[in-house]
Amino acid sequence: LKILVLNGPNLNMLGRREPNKYGTQTLVDIMQPLTNYAQQHNVTLTHLQSNSEAELINAIHDGWQKIDAIIINPAAFTHTSIALRDALLSVSIPFYEVHITNVYAREPFRHKSYFSDVAQGVICGLGAMGYQAALTAAISTLQSENN
Ligand code: DQA
Repeated sequence: LKILVLNGPNLNMLGRREPNKYGTQTLVDIMQPLTNYAQQHNVTLTHLQSNSEAELINAIHDGWQKIDAIIINPAAFTHTSIALRDALLSVSIPFYEVHITNVYAREPFRHKSYFSDVAQGVICGLGAMGYQAALTAAISTLQSENN
């Protein structure tokens, strides 16, 4: 099984970026245990963070017929990107939408997501733990489908 984790714009700044909202862990701090967990479950996990919408779209296209599930924090693209939504639909790969913060407790412009209605699951407000929750769910769902 192969799982792709995608992180959108400004998430490379985790650890320094508004730590009162996003915590003090860096993206590497978050991704390392996920990679280990995946490995222990015989899952290959790849990760891409990009500030570029095009790069994220290309990574999704490259996953066609190769990737079994995607875990994505589209960051600000959540609220703007029909193109990223269409990319996910174009490859028919089930995906989990993760947000570190509870977007519903924040500005109204963060309440709209172009992803939630077509996501397998949506997790927000659990901090970095949300990625682990999504990974656990993705692996357990994929493994039960393959049995
Ligand atoms: C975010 C929430 C978005 O509204 C914001 O633009 C981000 C991060 C989160 O993880 O909480 O960049 O997706």
